[in-house]
Amino acid sequence: MSIEKAYNSWAGQYDTNINKTRDLDKKATIETLSKYKFKHVLELGCGTGKNTGWLLGKAEQVIGLDFSQEMLNIAKEKTPDHRALFKRADLNKEWEIDNQFADLVTSSLTLEHIYNLNHIFNQANQKLKNGGIFFISELHPFKQYSGSKAKYETENGTQELEVYIHHISEYVDDAKNNGFELMELKEWFDDNPVNEIPRLISFVFRKNTSTKIT
Ligand SMILES: C[S@@+](CC[C@H](N)C(=O)[O-])C[C@H]1O[C@@H](n2cnc3c(N)ncnc32)[C@H](O)[C@@H]1O
Repeated sequence: MSIEKAYNSWAGQYDTNINKTRDLDKKATIETLSKYKFKHVLELGCGTGKNTGWLLGKAEQVIGLDFSQEMLNIAKEKTPDHRALFKRADLNKEWEIDNQFADLVTSSLTLEHIYNLNHIFNQANQKLKNGGIFFISELHPFKQYSGSKAKYETENGTQELEVYIHHISEYVDDAKNNGFELMELKEWFDDNPVNEIPRLISFVFRKNTSTKIT
């Protein structure tokens, strides 16, 4: 099943399933972004808008991009705020957003479904103002090496989604090659981290004002 179809079918239970990764991401997003100021936000793979409401509490406008119409329908229903705009878009293509629109681009639990990270950093650079921030929170590659991937339960058993492993060096190198500098890197553990591998990794990159990317 394609990733888009899988999310359309997962959408109805996405917010209510037991899902430690989803819940830890919310904590990582809030803890990390609380200390930054931003007005215009571009949220990649916004899904059901799990993080959109919180982002709107700090921002003037949030544009959420996602290719799953069913996930977007739930996001729209949950976020009846004219400052939130949800657009159906495939992140693998050019993003139809004004250049330098955002002072924050944020992406949670989405890049494991994207093969070409370089394209994402290239587009993020174009859509960010100089000095803008790119926050990423993803399933930790160590967790992926151990076999963890996005999945949900159906009447016919577990449905696993198509995912790609991105090593930590890939994030850092692709970011650097697209004019970003690394500000923060953090690993996030479940409540009882003794002998555990980290569940999530998060990065804060800043668009480097001195580099011009075309
Ligand atoms: C695990 S959900 C995360 C949703 C939300 N960010 C969160 O943290 O709850 C991943 C989202 O990425 C979206 N997605 C995956 N690949 C995409 C692509 N190529 N273009 C647009 N959206 C994509 C899916 O439709 C889904 O809503």
